Amino acid sequence: MTNTTTSPVGTIHLLGGQYRVPRIGYGTMRLSGRGVIGLPEDVTGAIAILRQAVDLGVRFFDTANAYGPRTVNQLIGRALAPFDDEIVIGNKVGASRGPHGEWLTDSRPETIRTQVEDALLDLRTDISPLTYLRLWGDSTDRAGAIAGDVPLEDSLGALVELREEGKIRHIGISGASPAMLERAQRLTPIAAVQNRFNLLDRSGVGVLSACERDGIAFVPYFPLATGALADLEALVAPARRLGAPTTTIALAWLLRRSPVIIPIPGTTSPTHLTENLRAAALAPQLTDDEVKALTAVEDEANARLDIMSAQAVEAIQKQPATTV
Ligand SMILES: NC(=O)c1ccc[n+]([C@@H]2O[C@H](COP(=O)([O-])OP(=O)(O)OC[C@H]3O[C@@H](n4cnc5c(N)ncnc54)[C@H](OP(=O)(O)O)[C@@H]3O)[C@@H](O)[C@H]2O)c1
Repeated sequence: MTNTTTSPVGTIHLLGGQYRVPRIGYGTMRLSGRGVIGLPEDVTGAIAILRQAVDLGVRFFDTANAYGPRTVNQLIGRALAPFDDEIVIGNKVGASRGPHGEWLTDSRPETIRTQVEDALLDLRTDISPLTYLRLWGDSTDRAGAIAGDVPLEDSLGALVELREEGKIRHIGISGASPAMLERAQRLTPIAAVQNRFNLLDRSGVGVLSACERDGIAFVPYFPLATGALADLEALVAPARRLGAPTTTIALAWLLRRSPVIIPIPGTTSPTHLTENLRAAALAPQLTDDEVKALTAVEDEANARLDIMSAQAVEAIQKQPATTV
């Protein structure tokens, strides 16, 4: 069973069985300063692109307390609040930042609670439609843990409590191995899983299969491999045939790869935003052979953590932070 239907405006995902969101979302991580710390240089541009995304039909945004930290959520609140039930902001908790911008894990229940409450404040809303717990089942090199290993049941339990208190509607997990997803599902329904997955990195394929089986939204992060896909040879022919940028084809392939996928490409460019959203209309125009050829660029049967993406993550994490 999958929660997808097609509509004249593109393909819709019934996220959590409740929210009808077009299947191209928007990732906000880059609406921050260097090293994902502080405010971006162009605050006005960041606010404008968030509003433009809504105007162009985006209804699914991805963010995290750790972006900035908090500044990206504050920008979203400033740009988009008050948002009605049509806009789904998926926020991640369980990660934080050290004094030099380093990425840290902090999944203590008290931190989870504080982060959810901070996010509501920053996003200027009373309820989070979707909150993910950030896990590290998709990384060779997990972020430093502030409080040792907190059992998944404890950190996820905090989200369950917050849902019972009416502060969260749906719970997701990010960076999950299939075993972690199974363990999480014993505790609570999981509405979305966010893992790395793109043409060059299929490390999330195991958990994607589990999401397909259970009708869970699968949100691939780094859907454009942080911009590294543009020159991929296999994209050139379909891009030429359809008169579209290779990046648009890469997103269209994700939509064809599985009906549970909702990509969240990040961009600070209004032109790129428009190009990325075009993927929904182009996806049905890819031929089955083109989809097959693109799927075969990587061997999914043997997919594991990918070195390219591990390096990209490391590069982003090591970028020096600028103070604002
Ligand atoms: N769960 C997690 O741990 C996790 C980790 C990382 C990211 N994320 C989420 O995933 C989202 C997406 O990741 P991301 O933004 O790092 O990587 P991405 O979406 O794979 O790629 C973004 C990069 O591609 C470029 N780009 C975007 N559209 C383009 C186009 N049409 N043509 C050419 N270049 C284009 C962007 O530059 P321009 O600005 O110039 O367009 C940017 O450099 C993030 O925003 C964040 O919300 C989650």
